[in-house]
Amino acid sequence: MQSPPIKLRTNNDLISVNSLISSGIKLGHNCYWNPESLPNQHIVTIGSSGSGKTQTLKAIAHSTHQYYPTVNIYIIDFHGDQEIEGETYVPLHMSSKYGINPLIINPDPEGGGSNIQSLIVTTTIKQTLQLGSVQEGKLLLLLKELYQLHGIYQNDLTTWSKEPPNFLDLEELIRKLAESGDKDAQKLELKLEATFQYGIFSRPQLPLLSGGGLLRIDLSKLPSYIGAIAGESFANQLLVNHKLMGEAEGLRTFIIIDEAKEMPKKDYSALSRIMADGRKFGLGLIVASQSERHLSADVIGNSATKIVLPVDQTEVKKVSNKFRFAEAKVSNLQPLHALIRMGKDAIESPIIPYYQRINDENTPSNIC
Ligand SMILES: Nc1ncnc2c1ncn2[C@@H]1O[C@H](COP(=O)(O)OP(=O)(O)OP(=O)(O)O)[C@@H](O)[C@H]1O
Ligand SMILES: [Mg+2]
Repeated sequence: MQSPPIKLRTNNDLISVNSLISSGIKLGHNCYWNPESLPNQHIVTIGSSGSGKTQTLKAIAHSTHQYYPTVNIYIIDFHGDQEIEGETYVPLHMSSKYGINPLIINPDPEGGGSNIQSLIVTTTIKQTLQLGSVQEGKLLLLLKELYQLHGIYQNDLTTWSKEPPNFLDLEELIRKLAESGDKDAQKLELKLEATFQYGIFSRPQLPLLSGGGLLRIDLSKLPSYIGAIAGESFANQLLVNHKLMGEAEGLRTFIIIDEAKEMPKKDYSALSRIMADGRKFGLGLIVASQSERHLSADVIGNSATKIVLPVDQTEVKKVSNKFRFAEAKVSNLQPLHALIRMGKDAIESPIIPYYQRINDENTPSNIC
C-alpha cells in the first residue's frame, strides 16, 4: 500500500493539501495536478543531473495529453531525449523539410510590426552569437530595410500581413553589401555564416497542431546557438498566435522545455513573457532546469506549480528561497522524491516516471 503524501510546513504557513483531491493529472500517488483550478497552468521544475527532470516532464506531457486530448502540446527538445508515445516528430537540421521563420511578424497593432520584429530578432541573435554593438546596429538596420524591400512598413498596418522575408533574403542582402565593400556587412556575414548554412530559418514553417496532439521539435542536431534562436523564435510565435486568437477561458496549448538553460534568459525573453501573459490566452509553459541560475526571476515567480527534485547542496539556499520551501526540506530530499507546490498547497511525493506509466498501461492487468 502506498504511504500517504506528507503535508509540509513551509517557512510561512501550514499548508492545506487540496492536492489530495483524487482527480486531475496524476503526478505521484495521491498527488494530482489540476491546472485549471490554479492561478495559472505553468510549471517550473528544478533538479540536479539524474534527479528525474526528463522523466518528470515526459510524464507530465504524456498524462496531460491523455487528460486533455484537445490541448496542443509542443515539446522543444534540445537533447533529443523527449520522445513520447503517440507524438508527431519534427526534427530540424541541415537537411530537414521544415524550419522556423524568425521574421514572421506579430500583427498585433499594440506591440507588433516589422520594426519590433527586427528588434526581437536582433536581440536574440545578439545574445546567442555575441554580436558587438556595431554588428548589432547593422543587423537591426538591415532587417528593417529587408521588410521594406518586401513592402512591409511599421507605420502601415495593412502591410504587416504580407509574406515576410526569411533568412535566405537576409543572407542575400548581406552578401550584396559585403561584395560591394561594406566592412560591417562583411563581419556580419562571417558571424552569421553557420546560421545561414543550416538553412532552418529559410525553409517552410513547420506545421502547427490544431485540435490537440503532441508535437516534438527535435533541435538536438543543431549547434546550441542555432537551437536557441529556433527555440526562442518558436516560443515567440506561439505567444503571438495565441494573442491573435484572443483571450481563452481554458487551456489551449502547452509548450514544454527540458533544459531551459538552452533558451535566452533575459527578462524580455519568450519564456518570461509566456509566464507573464500566456495564461490569459490559454498558453502554458512547463520548464525544467538543473540550476535556478538558468531560470529568470519572472519564470520562477510567475509559475503557480513548482517542482523541486533533489538539487546540488550548493543550490539548496537559493532554491529554498525562490521556490519557497524550507531549507531542511530541500536539503534532505530523498532521491527521486519531489517537493511539489501547487498554488498554496504543497506536498512531498515521488513522481511516477514516464517509463513506469507506459509499463503500467501496457501491462494486461491494467487494461480494462
Ligand atoms: N520518479 C522516478 N522513479 C524512478 N526512477 C526514475 C524516476 N525519475 C527518473 N528516474 C530514473 O533516474 C534516471 C535519471 O532520470 P532523468 O533522465 O529523468 O534525470 P534528469 O534530471 O533529466 O538528468 P539530466 O539532468 O542528466 O538530464 C533515469 O534512469 C530514470 O529512468
Ligand atoms: Mg534530463
